[in-house]
Order: sequence, then C-alpha cells, then structure tokens
Amino acid sequence: MTRVRILQLTDLHLLAAPEARLKNVATRYFLERVLGHIKQSGEHFDHVVVTGDHTHDELPASYDAVDSLLKPWSDRLWQVPGNHDDRRVMRQVYSGRFSGRNQDLIQFHFQAGAWCCIGLDTHVPGSVAGHISRDQIRWARELANRPGVESVALFFHHPPVLMGSVWMDKIGLDGKEQLQAWCCQDPRVRLICCGHVHHASETMVGAASVVTTPSTGIQFSRAGATPTFVAAAPGYRIIELDDRGFRTEVRRIREISIPE
Ligand SMILES: [Fe+2]
Repeated sequence: MTRVRILQLTDLHLLAAPEARLKNVATRYFLERVLGHIKQSGEHFDHVVVTGDHTHDELPASYDAVDSLLKPWSDRLWQVPGNHDDRRVMRQVYSGRFSGRNQDLIQFHFQAGAWCCIGLDTHVPGSVAGHISRDQIRWARELANRPGVESVALFFHHPPVLMGSVWMDKIGLDGKEQLQAWCCQDPRVRLICCGHVHHASETMVGAASVVTTPSTGIQFSRAGATPTFVAAAPGYRIIELDDRGFRTEVRRIREISIPE
C-alpha cells in the first residue's frame, strides 16, 4: 500500500530583519526552532506544503529567508499565497518555480497514490479576506476527475467554513459556498487543509474534514472581536494519505518559550 507523508507549514510571517518581532514573537527564530524540531524527529516527508503567509512584510529579503530555511525540501515544496503574500514578489524571488506572471494565480497539484492533492490560491491583493472563484473550483474538479483519482485533498490559505469566531469570520473566504457544494456532491473530497486563523480546528463539510493548522509563529484566540494573541506553542501538521484514507495530527513545539 502506498503511504504518502505530507508536512504542512503555515503562516510563517517572516520579517526582513532577522531579529524582528511580530506581537513580541521573533517569527524567524520560531520557524528555525520548528524546523529544528522536525529535523530532530528524523521523520521523512514526501511533500512539504506551505499554505500561505510566508512573510509579514512581503519583502524580497523575507521570501529569501523562507527559501533558505526550507532549502532541504526544495525538491518537494508546494506553495500557495496567503493574504500576507505578494504574488509578484514570490515570482521574482522564487524565479521559475511558478507558472504565469504578475498577479496570475499561484496554484499546484500533485498525485499521491490514489490521492489528488491540489493547492488553490485564495489571495486577493489588498484584502485580508480571501476569494475562491467558480473557475478555480472547475479546474480542481477537472483534476479530480482524471483517471486513477479516488480521493482529493485540498490545500489553501483561507478556511472555507465559518469558524464561529467574530473576527475570523469577518476575514473568511468569499465563494466558499461553491466549494462546500462540491464537497457535498463529491465524497471523494476527503481533506481540506488551511491556515490563516493561527489556530487548530477541525470541521466537516460533506465527507471532507476541514482542518486549520497552527502558525509556525504567533497563535491567536477565537474569542473576541479582533485578533488576540495567545501564548500558545507554535506548530505544524502531519498528513498521511493511503489507499484506506488519511490520518492527520498537529504537533506543537512546547519547549519554545512564548513571550507573554
Ligand atoms: Fe497569517
């Protein structure tokens, strides 16, 4: 049986100055510690997916820093932008990695055994909220309908569900209803992995588990009307896909001291 292991990293929020802090969290240091923890675990990943917010300042130096930290996985790295990303700068720094130009969508797909894994670009320039279009869903459905696809996993930044949080739901995903309709019609859509909310959660839409993954840096609370920093440990998600289904878990690096 083919078993494919995927590492999801999300919401890195790196800043150009190495020591710079975001809400008192040195995001580059945190990412280094998260990656150190993964390396120390000795676990193998067939694919590494970054679901957006590579940087916080969208500067070339910050994208360069992400690239050098993720270099060990450069042969298996898949990326989609978040709201804190700039497609033009991503294309400029990661020259030749993505098709298209300027503001064209940055998306991906790869086959993992009988699973079709698809990355969708929900970035809207100048907006914190995201958007998914009917064309994107059509593209994903065409990929899913290729021969040999038995299950589908989707990766993108903005969760396609209401999170039951005033502030998170204000900056959600426009067009999510069309995506939800696909999930309800096609039980092969089994897993949707997102970021954006800096918070771990799990919901069902149709037969699909919709999961959100902690940031590698700062964490937020669902409570309140505005994003509120909480002193929770940074983390990442491990996903295993095989012929029977999937298994996923969040790992947190509790030994990293979180500033209050
Ligand atoms: Fe973020």
